[in-house]
Amino acid sequence: MSAGTHDVVVVANRLPVDVTIGEGGSLSFERSPGGLVTALAPVMESQGGAWVGWTGKPDIDVAPFEDETMTLWPVRLSEQEVAGFYEGFSNATLWPLYHDVIVPPEFHRAWWNTYSAINRRFATAAAQAVAPGGTVWVHDYQLQLVPAALRALRPDVKIGFFNHIPFPPLEIFTQLPWRRQIIEGLLGADLVGFQRPGDASNFLRSVRRLTGLQVRGPQVTVPGHWSRPDRTVRAQAFPISIDSAAFDRLARTPEVQERAKQIRLELGSPEVVLLGVDRLDYTKGISHRLKTFGELLEDGQLRPPEACMVQVASPSRERVEQYRQLRDEVEVTVGRINGDYGTLGRAAVHYMHHSYPMEEMAALYSAADVMLVTSLRDGMNLVAKEYVAARSDLGGALVLSEFTGAADELTQALMINPHDINGTKAKIMQAVTMSTQEKRRRMRSLRRRVLTHDVQRWADDFLGYLAMSVPTPPSDLRPGRHHGETTQGDEPSQARTTREEDAR
Ligand code: F6P
Repeated sequence: MSAGTHDVVVVANRLPVDVTIGEGGSLSFERSPGGLVTALAPVMESQGGAWVGWTGKPDIDVAPFEDETMTLWPVRLSEQEVAGFYEGFSNATLWPLYHDVIVPPEFHRAWWNTYSAINRRFATAAAQAVAPGGTVWVHDYQLQLVPAALRALRPDVKIGFFNHIPFPPLEIFTQLPWRRQIIEGLLGADLVGFQRPGDASNFLRSVRRLTGLQVRGPQVTVPGHWSRPDRTVRAQAFPISIDSAAFDRLARTPEVQERAKQIRLELGSPEVVLLGVDRLDYTKGISHRLKTFGELLEDGQLRPPEACMVQVASPSRERVEQYRQLRDEVEVTVGRINGDYGTLGRAAVHYMHHSYPMEEMAALYSAADVMLVTSLRDGMNLVAKEYVAARSDLGGALVLSEFTGAADELTQALMINPHDINGTKAKIMQAVTMSTQEKRRRMRSLRRRVLTHDVQRWADDFLGYLAMSVPTPPSDLRPGRHHGETTQGDEPSQARTTREEDAR
């Protein structure tokens, strides 16, 4: 295959644009804001980067084109392929399997066949885009076969993979009929990144059990074939973050602060505002949160209209059956709580099934006394980090599920097990009644973490490690070193620092 011209190529399920189809079928593209795009913008601009991904709409055929800082390289998916690859295998098989089987995963051979074919399509596009010796960074569970497929086409490139969601324990992962193919797909990368150290060890355990390959610490040795040398694949945690400084700046603007005051007025100037912000997904524990809030009202520990809850639930994966059911369930519960505890013009739960621009989100975070993150399983949870970044006033309290990746870092949050309704009620009341002094102490510490560990640092750290990976020469040519061993001196200094911190 002939090489492309881009030294850095990002491969993700979605392109970082929103596509609008006008009358007569004309297409317009608008950049969608996001931490990943911001973090990669400098490297994409300086190295002539390309981003390979789907437009988010079926049957759109567009040739690669320039957009602001990079080349966008659309991958076409037909309606049937969206059903099998995205709604089916990615979001009704892998998503529940990787999130503790909160709902039962469905295993269909036709979905798997489509997933494999689409992964090959993404790999082919990346192989066409990347320059000789370039770097390709593949993202997330939708594209786990891309690393090996790309390596087969372009053995000259460095390949990194980052999984944005949890990686399940062996006992759950092995339910997947195609578990070995997934592991082999990921082992095509030089570096496989995860959110938490526990995800990396789950992966390494699956590698050991399913392939029998040699695993030493974070390294797997993949034997070479014919003239190709052995390779080393490294798996470790790189906890993702947000563009913290930009979020902090946005939340401090007079417009956002004014809007925050207005939101409290619109809510009827309650004493306590609780806030939940999520994609409408069963992993987020929205039903558990509503049940807990309902009980606090029933017990009289919180009394509307002095206390209210705002729940933003942004629409997500609406054609997947489990998501439709969840929407019905959440909306019935909200209706019940409001029927029981609302009064004319004063709801107990203000429920919005919309997405909002960042300005409005920053205002909501600034207006909320208590932020509720009750995920049953969550790779990271960036909403928790956004709330912290928005609170330069050191006000507000964060109630955080221990089942989020963010719980590893945000240790000064009030930690909960969302399944423990009584425990969660107690923590919510602790947050509501917490002294200003304690709120300030906790928030200061949370902010220190979020502002120093931003998405730029995450991307630099990952790419720093990836740059250090080199094909491992055959072991018989390396006197004194065994398969899979590294020396400390091999690591970039910044990456070393982060890993030491992770270990603490
Ligand atoms: O957390 C995984 C993820 O794929 C994110 O990358 C994405 O923002 C979110 O889930 C929603 O995904 P989508 O709308 O593409 O299914």
